[in-house]
Amino acid sequence: MVLSTGTNKVKTAVFISGTGSNLKSLIKFSKLKKSPISINLIITNNKLATGLKFGAIFKIQKKIINFKDKDIAEKKILNELKKNKIELICLAGFMKILSKNFIKNFKGKILNIHPSLLPKHKGLNTHQRAIENKDKFAGCTVHFVNSKLDSGKIILQKKVRILKKDNNNSLAKKVLAEEHKLFPKAILKVFSL
Ligand code: GAR
Repeated sequence: MVLSTGTNKVKTAVFISGTGSNLKSLIKFSKLKKSPISINLIITNNKLATGLKFGAIFKIQKKIINFKDKDIAEKKILNELKKNKIELICLAGFMKILSKNFIKNFKGKILNIHPSLLPKHKGLNTHQRAIENKDKFAGCTVHFVNSKLDSGKIILQKKVRILKKDNNNSLAKKVLAEEHKLFPKAILKVFSL
């Protein structure tokens, strides 16, 4: 594995765009003794992201970055990451696609959580698509980020059965509950590789 914990925890930035429930579960995990990471920075493209409140609650620095010009936005982010000596990035409901160049700067050190059983249903509206496709299972995946959308090496997945009575909302809720457990597990796995 490219990362090492040494005696200190690996400084991590979490990128969010909305509610930040995965951010919250990662923060809680990071406080456990067994966690190899500490969360030192929260980045968002959305100044209205309600997940930003976790920055205040847990006293973690947060930065709102306007993505109107992606080049400038990414330069600003890289600068923040450098300033804070960030070694790992967790994308947790971050709804912007990072450029190849950005990813190159953090090669092998960006993890993403996606609400489907990749390689099925890359991109958006995953639960709706799983239901319309009459899939038996939905689920979530934690993977390394490479330059192709939702296509990097898979670290862990969790399946959730789709019931006849499920709709987009009920399925999203069930999958999200699994996401909160899967991301910490995937991080532990990455550091044991
Ligand atoms: C999660 O379901 C996450 O997997 C998904 O957005 C939600 C964010 O929830 N991410 C993507 O769709 C990325 N393409 P949260 O803000 O409560 O963690």
